[in-house]
Amino acid sequence: MQPALFITDLDNTFVGDDAALATLQQQLRQWQSQGGTRVVYSTGRSRLLYEELKQEKGLMEPDALVTAVGTEIYCDAQDQPDRQWSEQIQGHWDLAKVKAWVSKLPSLQPQPASEQRPFKASYFVTDPATAEAVIEQLGRDLAQDGVEANIIYSDSRDLDILPKRANKGAAMAFLQAKWGIEPAATVACGDSGNDQAFFSDDRAKGIIVGNAKPELLQWHQAHPSNWRYLAQAHYAGGILEGLQHFGFA
Ligand code: GLC
Ligand code: MG
Repeated sequence: MQPALFITDLDNTFVGDDAALATLQQQLRQWQSQGGTRVVYSTGRSRLLYEELKQEKGLMEPDALVTAVGTEIYCDAQDQPDRQWSEQIQGHWDLAKVKAWVSKLPSLQPQPASEQRPFKASYFVTDPATAEAVIEQLGRDLAQDGVEANIIYSDSRDLDILPKRANKGAAMAFLQAKWGIEPAATVACGDSGNDQAFFSDDRAKGIIVGNAKPELLQWHQAHPSNWRYLAQAHYAGGILEGLQHFGFA
């Protein structure tokens, strides 16, 4: 048995252990060519930083690429993000208002220009101890100002502000619908806070790698599911372990 859709985060999930990654890529290439498994990367990185990682690690060609935490979907090796998806997530999103509210919060420092996208404003949290309070405050400010936004905290460091309808899970659902793939035939893999949305559809199989970050582990423990597997092994080794657990081989 093999999955119809294999979707994975990159940093510290797919990438992190070069030897295990080589084994996993060999398996995926085989599934891709023999059985038509679709392979999708879903990363917090911009397209620019994704291309750097792809080069550096020799990543295989995916069937679609999701960047900027689910806000951009690139299908069929296109250069431009999918227009239908952009329209679908727009809602009451207002980037200028987001930036104006954030500028009142000194503990949030802007990430590099490449990581600021039309549907993603990203910051570094300089004082993790205050993160929760800052996120609550910002959430209230934006809601009161009529901005429909989601605030996602990852790696105890990165704060992404996205349109309410965009996240890695919603982008996964868009591709499932596009390709006619049942959620149950999907396996999604991740390690940190922005991957949580992968796992909110309980019908899809989920793999959390053994090196996952506290924010994701805490959520996993609070929301147990038979279809989510927490691996012992780290990075691609954890993915291989999870695939075996679910009987994919
Ligand atoms: C990647 C992106 C960054 C984002 C982080 C978490 O590192 O480059 O902008 O904040 O993922 O989603
Ligand atoms: Mg990651």
